[in-house]
Amino acid sequence: MDPMSLLLQPPVFYPVVPYACTIFGGLQYGRMILIQGRVTSDAVRFQIDFQCGCSTRPRSDIAIHFNPRFSSSDAHVICNTLCRDKWLDEQKFSGFPLRRGNSFVLLFLFLADKVKVSISGQHFLDFSYRLPLRDVDTLGIYGDVSVKEVSFLSTNPYHAEMTEYPLCQPLKPGNSDLTLPLSRPLPMGLSEGSLSR
Ligand code: GAL
Repeated sequence: MDPMSLLLQPPVFYPVVPYACTIFGGLQYGRMILIQGRVTSDAVRFQIDFQCGCSTRPRSDIAIHFNPRFSSSDAHVICNTLCRDKWLDEQKFSGFPLRRGNSFVLLFLFLADKVKVSISGQHFLDFSYRLPLRDVDTLGIYGDVSVKEVSFLSTNPYHAEMTEYPLCQPLKPGNSDLTLPLSRPLPMGLSEGSLSR
């Protein structure tokens, strides 16, 4: 097993957008990135980019460009890949549930051949990789969005069969529930493959 899959990365709270950070150890199968935020009230678009580096000139490749757009009556998401400064064929996903001003929890779950994205607990899209996942080492957040928290999570690396979203919750900064001593029931108990934060 790759020891990188056990690497922990602390969450980032209230990053100022535009924002870019290194993903410790790069992206790989079983990693998850959870972004809690809000679409600005006058949003035209924002984007979450999973980049292969952070160069601006020439622009680094973007393996996964997740780009919600709000200017038409049908809010939608464009996903694409930027390879050697050229956009490949874009994919459009209609029925985007978020509107201007809405809060959200976006979860990106990186599988071997595709990323799955859920919005506030509901699966929204699958996007198949066109560039190798192992080349992605940078997360970029740009455009009309404010971000409360970015968390870097891993599914159980010993659990090879993983198709559904594992249960995961963002931390709530300042929540008095986090004061010690803390004791809380685990609603579903513990079982192989479950995550506890
Ligand atoms: C272009 C846009 C880029 C990117 C791309 C995705 O039209 O200028 O920012 O969103 O589409 O295909």
